[in-house]
Amino acid sequence: MLRIEGLNQYYGGSHILRDIDLDIFEGRTNCLMGRNGMGKSTLLKCVMGLLPIASGKILFQGEDISRRKPHERGRLGLGYVPQGREIFPRLTVEENLQVALASKRSRDIPERVYELFPVLKDMARRRGGDLSGGQQQQLAIGRALVLNPSILLLDEPIEGIQPNIVREISDVIRLLNTEMGLTILLVEQKLPFARATADRFDIINNGQIVAGGEMGELSDDLVQEHLTV
Ligand SMILES: Nc1ncnc2c1ncn2[C@@H]1O[C@H](COP(=O)(O)OP(=O)(O)O)[C@@H](O)[C@H]1O
Ligand SMILES: [Mg+2]
Repeated sequence: MLRIEGLNQYYGGSHILRDIDLDIFEGRTNCLMGRNGMGKSTLLKCVMGLLPIASGKILFQGEDISRRKPHERGRLGLGYVPQGREIFPRLTVEENLQVALASKRSRDIPERVYELFPVLKDMARRRGGDLSGGQQQQLAIGRALVLNPSILLLDEPIEGIQPNIVREISDVIRLLNTEMGLTILLVEQKLPFARATADRFDIINNGQIVAGGEMGELSDDLVQEHLTV
């Protein structure tokens, strides 16, 4: 569904992403794992067109989208939940959701967003900044769902979230995959959450993909070598 071929990216003179080849499988919950600073967020930003790439291709449903603008990638079906959520604290919950509709004629929030996250309806007129971390994460996911994506990219969605909400976030991601048919690309470094949520893994180490497979095949050796801090 999403295929990355020979992708290289630099921040100035630092070569961050190195010859990345990666397949994100349709209908699966794919997890990109790796320690801090390995290039996970950079890769998602490249996929969304938020950072330029030096070389390589990003193929989405067979089409090379690597020259397309971020909003075009959104229209094609890529939804993105950035690390740290990046909601607008001074806008209301409803306005935060409407931002995603800027390019559309209708400003109506699709009902399924509120069905999935009833708290967003209850708090529609509250400011984004008044929400708890878990509620803000729901808002960030809801905002990505407004444009009805076929693939959802989530960058460390449980970072800074109370432990009792973590299970809910995992359940929502599973539900989006199994009930709503979304392909998921989850970026995660916390092993229990990744195992509970995803069914495939790829590991990035210093900007290179070093392993991948079914989640059940993620060995202790790989964990030791590439994931434990
Ligand atoms: N805006 C930036 N300018 C320069 N270097 C950056 C920038 N953002 C990230 N980096 C560097 O790129 C590398 C990968 O970062 P990142 O993709 O955020 O890693 P991860 O998401 O895996 O923690 C790190 O070494 C980081 O310091
Ligand atoms: Mg990151």
